[in-house]
Amino acid sequence: MDPNPMTREPKKIILDCDPGHDDAVALLLAYGNPDIELLAVTTVVGNQTLEKVTRNALSVGTIAGITGVPFAAGCDRPLVRAIETAPDIHGDTGMDGPEQPQSTIELDPRHAVDLIIETIMAHEPGTVTLVPTAGLTNIAMAARKEPRIVERVKEVVLMGGGYHVGNWSAVAEFNIIIDPEAAHIVFNENWPVVMVGLDLTHQALATHEVVEKIAAIGSKPAKFVMELMEFFTKTYRDAQGFDYPPVHDPCAVAYVIDPTVMTTRKVPVDIELQGKLTLGMTVADFRAPAPADCNTSVAVDLDHGKFWNLVTDAIIRIGEPDAGEPTGAPATAAAIAGEAK
Ligand code: BDR
Ligand code: CA
Repeated sequence: MDPNPMTREPKKIILDCDPGHDDAVALLLAYGNPDIELLAVTTVVGNQTLEKVTRNALSVGTIAGITGVPFAAGCDRPLVRAIETAPDIHGDTGMDGPEQPQSTIELDPRHAVDLIIETIMAHEPGTVTLVPTAGLTNIAMAARKEPRIVERVKEVVLMGGGYHVGNWSAVAEFNIIIDPEAAHIVFNENWPVVMVGLDLTHQALATHEVVEKIAAIGSKPAKFVMELMEFFTKTYRDAQGFDYPPVHDPCAVAYVIDPTVMTTRKVPVDIELQGKLTLGMTVADFRAPAPADCNTSVAVDLDHGKFWNLVTDAIIRIGEPDAGEPTGAPATAAAIAGEAK
């Protein structure tokens, strides 16, 4: 990565999401970080119905004051299976907790799959990164509808799976198990896939200290994130026995911003489609060395401090959009934390 922020080219991404408390944080991180150029936000059924997660995405966009970025709704059901949502974790709206504003963003009329394809085809090969933080239905559909996108995409950096742990079954993670056939397509296409799975995201805990730092920012987007985290903390404690909630989805965005925020390892990964107990498992073959044609890698260890600094810096940069404040405020998370003492 070019160490000079003045000459560094921002990385172009499409965020495909199902907000979702952690998807919301992923969107704020992507929008608020100067090393990311957000080309499009697309939604897919997942944490809640397509209608609900799309509304949530527009709300987050409104809170952040996002303009000039198309938002489009995609697939309202998985490729083969029945719809499965996650109200125990994300509530009835899919983003319970904070009050949601009236959206000021108009939904793009295109289907998300078409927007994904058009956006990739309109950019130079090797310049667009796909960042899916939900079930992989839209991405699989796009690869099937326009196979030429596969060689044009720089890489797919997805939140999903886990090589040692599951959360929706003993061995399967939610984003994979809700549409395992779509995941199978995405993991087996000839593009680089970085799996930012539970092994990594369970290290991205929103601890007391983290939430206090966000509270100290004092802006509306910061308050919104705090309220999201309050709800998320409670559901993760009640449903999964966590002291603090793992904030999965922004980890994938953080990797695109700065790959040194985590370590990764190249290993073949495939998706289990047959198993009675193991459906949706991301089966990682750790026998070394990985074959030369291995396209997949998995995230292993997170730098917790660096990760949360990226998130808090992004929230600071977003500022107070309602008040028409310019973005790009020079403050940093470290400075804010210092002031809060
Ligand atoms: C993933 O599932 C969803 O509930 C979250 O938004 C995240 O993308 C974690 O398993
Ligand atoms: Ca998600």
